[in-house]
Amino acid sequence: MEVVIAPSAREAAIVAVSAFERLLAGADRPVIGLATGRSPLPTYRELIERYRSRRLSFARTRVFLLDEYVGLDPEDPRSCRSIIRRELLDHVDAPAGALVALECAAEELPTAGETYERCIADAGGIDLQILGIGRNGHIGFNEPPSSLGSRTRLATLAATTRQDNARSFGDDPDMVPRHGITQGIGTILEARHIVLIATGEAKREPIARAVEGPVTAMMPASALQLHPHATVIVDEAAGEQLKHADYYREAYRDKPAWQHI
Ligand code: F6R
Repeated sequence: MEVVIAPSAREAAIVAVSAFERLLAGADRPVIGLATGRSPLPTYRELIERYRSRRLSFARTRVFLLDEYVGLDPEDPRSCRSIIRRELLDHVDAPAGALVALECAAEELPTAGETYERCIADAGGIDLQILGIGRNGHIGFNEPPSSLGSRTRLATLAATTRQDNARSFGDDPDMVPRHGITQGIGTILEARHIVLIATGEAKREPIARAVEGPVTAMMPASALQLHPHATVIVDEAAGEQLKHADYYREAYRDKPAWQHI
């Protein structure tokens, strides 16, 4: 696992964008997995800037969602598919149909996970998966204690997640859907490169536990320790409780340019 401590959220976004640049320039049919939430927003804004200045293109890209709420109309502005379109895809040259949505209609729920897994496999697997981290250590809607081998499935949102996501639901946690469909931890770990972005002091404790604590289903993000190519990008505030921060800074500063993130 590589830990990059950036001076600010904007600098963290610039580091994350470098992973997109390399993938989009090099792969024939890049496949990316995107998270919603606040953490990746500066990255998405930076990607839009780079597209506008013709420094990258999404023309050959397929996009998978990390997760989706159950019970919202697909076109609901609060659905993850709407958010990803609004925050990124509507502003770049991703082809219509690039986004493979998670189908959450009631009759599709029992098979939605398997169907999505098949779509990911048919696309050749995810090259680059973007993640945030919840204050309880969740990734996607994999709340503690999600199996580290879990696959895409229906999951129940934790009370803390409904509280944190209430900002999009009239500040009322009871209005936040109780369930979501999420890529499983086992699914996420199959992405070829995972980039987790965390900024702000609320992420201090989960980041320290995920990076330097034991690998445990009680801290789903700790599963990234098992991945051969996981990059955790934090700003100073989110990295503040990391005991080995000096080593991470030194390792990132001294690595050869060809290694990238
Ligand atoms: C988003 C998602 C969540 C968020 C996490 C952090 O698709 O699955 O796991 O990444 O809750 O949210 P923010 O970035 O808003 O702090």
